[in-house]
Amino acid sequence: MSTTPRIGDSLSRTDGIEKVTGNASYAAEHFPPGLLYGWIVSSAIAKGRIKSIDDSATRKIPGVVEVITHKNRPHMALLDASYSEQVSPPGSPFRPLYDDKILYSLQPIAVVVADTLENARDAAALLRVTYDTEEFNTDFAIALEEKYEPKRKRSTFESPKPRGDAKKAFAESPVQHQARYHSGNHHHNPMEMHGTTVEWNDGKIVVYDKTQGSQNVQDYLSSVFGFSKKDVRVMNPYVGGAFGSGLRPQYQVVLATMAAKKLERSVRVTMTRAQMFSHVHRPEAIQDISLGADKNGQMQSIINDATSATSKFEDYMEVISNWGLMNYKCDNASAEYTLASVDTYTPGDMRAPGAATGMNLFEIAVDELAYAANVDPLQLRLLNYSEIDAMHKKPFTSKALREAYAEGAEKFGWSRRTQAPGSMRDGKELVGWGLATGMWDTMFQKTAARATLTPDGKLEVACATSDIGTGTYTVMTQVAGDVLGLPLADITARLGDSDLPAAPVEGGSWAAASTGAAVELACKSLADELFKAAGKIKGDPLEGAKRDEIAFVDGFIVVRANPFKRVSVKDVVAATGKDKLEVEETAKPGIADMASMLQKSRNTHSAIFAEVKVDEELRIVRVTRVVCAVAAGRIINPKTARSQILGGVVMGIGMALHEETFTDHKLGRFMNHNLAEYHIPANADIDNIEVIFVDEPDPEVTPLGVKGLGEIGIVGTAAAVANAVFHATGVRVRSLPVTVDKLL
Ligand code: MOS
Repeated sequence: MSTTPRIGDSLSRTDGIEKVTGNASYAAEHFPPGLLYGWIVSSAIAKGRIKSIDDSATRKIPGVVEVITHKNRPHMALLDASYSEQVSPPGSPFRPLYDDKILYSLQPIAVVVADTLENARDAAALLRVTYDTEEFNTDFAIALEEKYEPKRKRSTFESPKPRGDAKKAFAESPVQHQARYHSGNHHHNPMEMHGTTVEWNDGKIVVYDKTQGSQNVQDYLSSVFGFSKKDVRVMNPYVGGAFGSGLRPQYQVVLATMAAKKLERSVRVTMTRAQMFSHVHRPEAIQDISLGADKNGQMQSIINDATSATSKFEDYMEVISNWGLMNYKCDNASAEYTLASVDTYTPGDMRAPGAATGMNLFEIAVDELAYAANVDPLQLRLLNYSEIDAMHKKPFTSKALREAYAEGAEKFGWSRRTQAPGSMRDGKELVGWGLATGMWDTMFQKTAARATLTPDGKLEVACATSDIGTGTYTVMTQVAGDVLGLPLADITARLGDSDLPAAPVEGGSWAAASTGAAVELACKSLADELFKAAGKIKGDPLEGAKRDEIAFVDGFIVVRANPFKRVSVKDVVAATGKDKLEVEETAKPGIADMASMLQKSRNTHSAIFAEVKVDEELRIVRVTRVVCAVAAGRIINPKTARSQILGGVVMGIGMALHEETFTDHKLGRFMNHNLAEYHIPANADIDNIEVIFVDEPDPEVTPLGVKGLGEIGIVGTAAAVANAVFHATGVRVRSLPVTVDKLL
């Protein structure tokens, strides 16, 4: 008999075997009968109108079934509101193949549908398109010079109320640091590219989609194409990474659905890797940071003004400039945040949106302040440590950052560091040790789950949430096991299906806390039913024990005081005479949670220590060691939790040294749109990464005490590496990534 999975166990992913054996089917791996293949044709210009499309040669290719453009597409909704969904920023959402307007380079303008992918691709190459081009600008540096007033600000993104007089305090500070920092455009580059298979069943569709939210896509497709919601089922049981790129419905799901509707056939549409660079991305941003301190390094002023890029048709904002103000004690502080607009697709959420940019750049500035004050960077952070959220002036539900600094520093050996740049070496290589702080929000979203128990003792827990590689299946299994005491082999977690109980998109690092809470509620409620049913069994095997006097252990309900008094869960279900016991519950922040949210801030914190070795002449940087110490409340599964931090740290190393999407401003196009030229860290770039979870009990933060781990790993990592490069070389790079050319 397999053992019961419990909260706190290092359980291997329950979906792991499916994945490594290739049995997990991703969105583009479903083969409904008569499947057709769509090839996306992308705009060659960055802005203007389509003048003409000549498809005569395309249609002559054998196997071509249809060429769909704005001229012959099926009916689509007229109003912007019909295209807005859970994740839309304010503005006018992009509508694929809606009309002749071109808003950005590589925008989809046609889909060629054929009997095979190869025929569709061949035929698509023969499409003749002419354009009327318009002036455009994709250069953020130029956009910064233009006045741009965001159309409609969301209150969450309002600049915080200034505290004290930051300008005056800065002017009076004996130690001053002031600089502009920059971070480039990034693309998510999940392993699985965006793809959709639409199965057509007599006017009803099953949509296998690469998405972080099946129900968000279901709502969106229903409203865009006028389907009745019950006729649209969206499935995403396996998602090969997303990092935010699957939060909004992407255009391939629109094109596949459009083709299926027009042809009344099953259709698949996938993006190429290059087309993955034609939708959402992390926006380029600048931050002007001024830090003033007394001669010991005590902060007297923080000014953090940020601008990030958005498109011409939507205002995507993210919290960039607040993190330092929240994290450090300082009487005088202000932050402004605004947008500049360029002719690209709308940027969007990418792992730790806002914090990855904002906190990483801020933590480079903090390192600079430490050098200006001639204080050890860790000492400076401890000197300015804030027990409370210094921006909102609220306590945290918990903040074990001090412990994270201490345990991380100990593990890393920080006390052996010498402060002067270039003072540490390893043979021919310069050694640099850098440090940064990370911070992310803890969120808890309304989520429902269902628990179903059959007379064979098998439990299914189900929720429409997604597992984008984060471990949601495994977390659901552990929470269910913890409540109902059933063996691992008897528990199945189901997710990634819009038919299941309601869940929001998986994002913001909220899924473990929210789905976990929903599964716990449903299982507790099922436990209550089992207890009641057990009481009705003849001979009363639990001998009148009360609800709080029993436990669920290894498939049995047992009396705590006398474990020989017990009854198996199977027998209890069988005794009800029903074919199953089933409950559904919704977890959501209650009144007490709301009150607590007003009074206290909820955040994860981390301390990241990085070692780099830099070739003195060639200036090639290797990250040889990272220690990431995280304070994230209760850890449900140390193994999958560690994997989340490893992934975040790897992405942070990419942000520090490699990742940036470059634009040819004459063409208005992202040019390094492949994995050869957009380098994400590979095995050779990654060395030793150690993850520490510091003890941080926090029953108040969410029902399970969980804070979430999907995003915190990237926050601070890029800064720790950039700070280590400075320590090694004495060269301060203020524009990420830190590439060789910037160090020569
Ligand atoms: Mo995350 S960027 O909310 O998928």
